[in-house]
Amino acid sequence: MAYLNDNYLKLQAGYLFPEIARRVREFCDANSEAARRLIRCGIGDVTEPLPPAVIAAMHHAVDEQSVRETFRGYGHEQGLESLREKIAQQDYRDRGVEMTADEIFISEGSKSDCGYILDVLGDQNKIAITDPVYPVYVDTNVMAGHTGAAGEGGRYHGITYLPCGPQNGFAPEPPREAVDVVYLCFPNNPTGAVASRAQLNRWVEYAREHEAIILFDAAYEAYISDPEVPHSIFEIPDARECAIEFRSFSKNAGFTGVRCGFTVMPKSLHARTSDGRKLPLHPLWHRRWSTKANSVSYPVQRGAEAVYTPDGRKETRELIDHYMGNARILREAAAGAGLEVYGGVNAPYIWVKTPAGLTSWQLFDRMLHELNVVITPGSGFGSCGEGYFRISAFNSRENAEEVARRLGNL
Ligand code: MLT
Repeated sequence: MAYLNDNYLKLQAGYLFPEIARRVREFCDANSEAARRLIRCGIGDVTEPLPPAVIAAMHHAVDEQSVRETFRGYGHEQGLESLREKIAQQDYRDRGVEMTADEIFISEGSKSDCGYILDVLGDQNKIAITDPVYPVYVDTNVMAGHTGAAGEGGRYHGITYLPCGPQNGFAPEPPREAVDVVYLCFPNNPTGAVASRAQLNRWVEYAREHEAIILFDAAYEAYISDPEVPHSIFEIPDARECAIEFRSFSKNAGFTGVRCGFTVMPKSLHARTSDGRKLPLHPLWHRRWSTKANSVSYPVQRGAEAVYTPDGRKETRELIDHYMGNARILREAAAGAGLEVYGGVNAPYIWVKTPAGLTSWQLFDRMLHELNVVITPGSGFGSCGEGYFRISAFNSRENAEEVARRLGNL
């Protein structure tokens, strides 16, 4: 009989969001009246339609596929060159960051890339993650066999956890010990925290000193409103020698259902072979894509490219402003209800301390049953998330205002 991947058996419960969906389904099946009032502020899934410029570009690309002269078959495995060039120019060089188009790799989203990246990293790496954390970083390492079993409190042996809380502004300092790979996400999911330039400088210095790699998830960079906060790890000097960045079109342009993102793999980034040689990772990542994939569908990439047109930029900005308007309403309502509130200023997530010592899941149940509002329990993001919950600002304005009103009854 064939063997399965035993590492999957180490994973705890279900993945957080399907587990929430299961509980919500059960509640709705048993309470049809309340189900009609239900408002979902759990998973960070966008609600507003795609920008018109994106839709027009996708329609056009579909039409191109209907005519022999403009039809396209397999594309470049690393993505459309015109899209990669626009990303390199507008997301990086226009911000004073050195970048070439061939350092950009188009994918179906940053969640996928967070898993795929392990293909080119060694199994012997010591991994550090923040706590709370986007669960994908942990679970993909568990699946790849980079951890031991989960212990008390759900933490896996073999991972270095970096506790985040109000004491460090939910942005941890580098650990004393040496690690090889560290996952950082700013603006942060789930806490909505951002890292200052000085903090990111310290991480880059740490990575350079220990020859570590920073896996920097910048999926929410478009939500930064503070001009002092870096949008990319590559705004930090020397980060090109020690970092990989993940970006997404999901949260800025509404691509959660369309699927498109990209990874920035600098050509100057090196890692060690098991016999001690230092080699660039870029050719491995390039090879990974050439062998395992044919990039993202043509109409989707054309849609992503439209984000960089003047209309696309304006319409994307409007989407972000809409969600950040919700974030302000929700943040103020939670604070007005006497809750301790974090985030929601440079990120679409509001991170809230549970009242009266409730656990995160107790609060989840109370919000579901009493307010008919779905939130995400903080403990689902790690043991340091216990005692917190996350409210997503991805919603219609009407729903955000209604949730704000209901929060007054918590
Ligand atoms: C979240 O709610 O944390 C995100 O939507 C998950 C994701 O982007 O995959």
